[in-house]
Amino acid sequence: MSPNEQNLNKDDILQKTSIKEYIDKNWSVSKKSGSGYKVLCPFHDDKSPSMHISEDKGLYHCFVCKAGGNLVQFIKEFKNLTYPETLEEISNFFNIKIPKSNYKPNEDLGLQKKMYDFNNKVSQFFSRCLLDEERNSKPMDYLKSRGFSREDIEGNSLGFAPDSWDSITSLLYKKKDASSVALSLGLITKKEGQKSFYDFFRNRIIFPIKNRQGNILAFAGRTIGKDKVKYINSKESEIFSKRRVLYGLNNFNKLNGKKPKYVFIVEGYTDVLMMNKYGLYNVVATMGTSLTLEHASEVKKISNKVILCYDSDTAGIDSSFKNIEPLYQFGIEIFSLRLDSGLDPCSYLERHGREKFIDLAKKSSSIIDEYMDYLKDKLIEKEISINEALDSFVSKIRYVQDYIQRDKFINKFAASFSISKVKIESIINKEFIRADSPKQSIPTNRILSPEDIILKVFVEFPDSRDSKSINKYISIISPGFYKEMSKILLENIEDEASLIIGKIQDSGMNAMFSDLIFIPFDVPVELSARVKLIKDCIRKIELNLIKDSKRLINLKLSKDVQISDEEEIELLNDLKNLIEEEKALT
Ligand code: UTP
Ligand code: MN
Repeated sequence: MSPNEQNLNKDDILQKTSIKEYIDKNWSVSKKSGSGYKVLCPFHDDKSPSMHISEDKGLYHCFVCKAGGNLVQFIKEFKNLTYPETLEEISNFFNIKIPKSNYKPNEDLGLQKKMYDFNNKVSQFFSRCLLDEERNSKPMDYLKSRGFSREDIEGNSLGFAPDSWDSITSLLYKKKDASSVALSLGLITKKEGQKSFYDFFRNRIIFPIKNRQGNILAFAGRTIGKDKVKYINSKESEIFSKRRVLYGLNNFNKLNGKKPKYVFIVEGYTDVLMMNKYGLYNVVATMGTSLTLEHASEVKKISNKVILCYDSDTAGIDSSFKNIEPLYQFGIEIFSLRLDSGLDPCSYLERHGREKFIDLAKKSSSIIDEYMDYLKDKLIEKEISINEALDSFVSKIRYVQDYIQRDKFINKFAASFSISKVKIESIINKEFIRADSPKQSIPTNRILSPEDIILKVFVEFPDSRDSKSINKYISIISPGFYKEMSKILLENIEDEASLIIGKIQDSGMNAMFSDLIFIPFDVPVELSARVKLIKDCIRKIELNLIKDSKRLINLKLSKDVQISDEEEIELLNDLKNLIEEEKALT
């Protein structure tokens, strides 16, 4: 049988092709490096080869911009093709036949366009309502009182959703098709048990949420009435996911293609708009949620540095610290800008102007310095012990990929907490495993957690997987990346890494997964050694869980809040059990 008569199924495609060959011939010739190859990365402005190719695994990964995946993903991104077009390209280049049944597109471009169009139409309607001051001047007066001119309002396509139940419904002109689009965008809702619809946004100022190209993905609505909830968003849809979307990206085109030195991340929509008004376009906000890995991967495409400018209240400080991990995972440097006396960037700019704001931004400190101060305060207040402070610190800095940078942080911690550097290093070595690899010249020496190691072993060696051990792993890890990945592994228990990566829908998870696979860590080849490694790591995770529970109980016992005698006995009993469990594990 000649090669072009072979009938390949989807999974074979990755096994009968060579990612290195494709990249060599279509992009740039790769060079041998360690056990794989290295080539300039086509997905960012690369000066020296940062993209690694693993022939054995059929995968590529860039340690700088975190682009990664299999051959299908490479071609799709590199040539900007749809899925069917990508398969055609593979079929032509490798001279293999791919059955038509594989050509099913996995994205419905028709629906996407309909949704954009509909949101656009609705946005124009909301704009008209806002600008029609004769009918209702309240929303416009409100925005003007907040410092936004008619020009700002029109420039940002702000709008107003009237205080009515059926403005959107009346826009639909009884078109069946349109009502289903409006429903799936969450612009209208069906009354329970009834056929009629009502509007979702009512009596609210409307902020359209756009992607970088300017398509409207969703809306945010701010109340100007009595509603207790200040902001609401369109519901999640095929085109809108809060986990992924950043507000303000569409204004990056005002930077005229210049890559900003840093990006501001702020809390609110009005902060973004006011910064834009003051000529600062390198700013984004999340939709009132904390920053996810997907957000971090979007930020990484724009800049390697961020300045977090969150409110100075407890909530703002806590959420800015939560952002450290996802951003460090993408190798993004983080600075923190705290504005005084409860001002957010919006009110600060109005009161003090651009110069002062920029001055402060230039003086902003590394978030890790701030985090150390925060831990220090907690230590002085006796809310945490020195070991807990050290644990928290290590869990934040373990993603810092620049070895020198991480060493600097460790030195600072050692000095400020009067603790020896050796002790810190020993904690790191006990709880984590360093992925140092001077031989392979990979620009990372991320510290691997037990969670990382288990996933890496599972992924690289399908023979280490069995549903019992995967389920055990799932039962002890917290929701998020590792849990989601384990579920994918369970469903594809025999598949190789190159197939598994194709099953990941989410760009942030894709990047983390790819990073983990390419991090040099020699997984033992012998099965028994691997089983032991997994067991050890599981034990470490369990010990950490016990540590957390103990911490929580001690907090409850030491807090000034009143607890009954029975509660106290119960807590002490729990504590005793935990200590026994801990003993059994060590
Ligand atoms: P803030 O309460 O600081 O609002 O919430 P803001 O942006 O300063 O708004 P103005 O100036 O009072 O109009 C910050 C962000 O948190 C989210 C929104 O994204 C908001 O911009 N948020 C807040 C919600 O999602 N829902 C809420 O009810 C409140
Ligand atoms: Mn605010």
